Amino acid sequence: MDILAIETSCDETSAAVVSNGTNIKSMIVSSQIKIHSKFSGVVPELASRSHMENINFVIHQSLSEANIDFNNFSKKIDAVAFTSGPGLAGALLIGTIASKAIASVYKKPLIPVNHLEGHLYSYYINNSSIYPPFLGVIISGGHTEIIIVEKFGKYKTLGITRDDAAGEAFDKAAKILGLSYPGGPIIDEMSKNGDPTLIQFTRPLLKNGWDFSFSGLKTALLNYVKTNQIKSKKHLSDICASFRQAIVETIVFKAFKAAKVFNLKNIVLGGGVSANSLIRKMFINNGNKYEVNIFIPALIHCTDNAAIIGCAAYLKQKKCGLNYNSLQLKSDPSLTLYNW
Ligand code: KG4
Ligand code: ZN
Repeated sequence: MDILAIETSCDETSAAVVSNGTNIKSMIVSSQIKIHSKFSGVVPELASRSHMENINFVIHQSLSEANIDFNNFSKKIDAVAFTSGPGLAGALLIGTIASKAIASVYKKPLIPVNHLEGHLYSYYINNSSIYPPFLGVIISGGHTEIIIVEKFGKYKTLGITRDDAAGEAFDKAAKILGLSYPGGPIIDEMSKNGDPTLIQFTRPLLKNGWDFSFSGLKTALLNYVKTNQIKSKKHLSDICASFRQAIVETIVFKAFKAAKVFNLKNIVLGGGVSANSLIRKMFINNGNKYEVNIFIPALIHCTDNAAIIGCAAYLKQKKCGLNYNSLQLKSDPSLTLYNW
């Protein structure tokens, strides 16, 4: 099953051709980082305009890299998948409309994909023998969720963030520290030469349930920099390392506790923050210590891209088939995880 997948939920315009959920024949990502970095965050209207400008290019390029053109499209592509939500309303519409247009011209079935499932199942691209049940940990710019995945498409959400998502906390912290956008990779890099014990940030909601809350950390950081002038590059690295440590330890602690309480032997990570070098290291080390298998997507599949949407679409159609009604085939900015 070869799927042309399209992703436009936030600030990456992406198209990919994915065969059987695992073989990425092509993946093109046009990033808008340059546009949004001036504003230290994504500006929705600029995101929509940029998707409009780039969508045709990324689709053509991904088809061309997979040796497909509009003459052999009908023969080579079995379905078109698109991110239906959650995400920015205008941004989602561009991908939805482009997908509908292509599907309608070539009379191909359309598969709507929840962006969260793109992240949740991105591990599958390189680990297609691993099936649920597992503990899913989605950590991105918009979401922080831990979920028991009982089967593909069958979920029990344990905890979500009550305020800022993990990636959002990194991005806002970077802004406070005068670093550029997106803050996650920059703070990660700066932290490598830093002392994580300089500031003892509280580990939020550590002992209380499964939810997360990262906005207090950001306020604590703001208070620290208001009362302590940043003296040197080393000092800045220490601050970054302390902040990163607090976020990562909180996520790792809750995930391993959940795996123990619910007796799950596999933990799967997904989303932009799973690219964080400390989170990758701590999950793997703890996995060895507590005998839990850890599956983390390749770095290139952590942040938003259409290949993960093509992978999730493949898994979805295996169970649900290829007929979706018009209510399912619309974009929904506040879509949550739902069972199928
Ligand atoms: O999954 P993603 O591309 O978009 C959403 O679905 O939100 O995640 C983007 C987020 C940004 O907040 C970015 O700062 C964060 O992922 N991120 C990281 C790292 N790389 C990206 N956060 C921490 N460490 C990283 N290395
Ligand atoms: Zn994402």
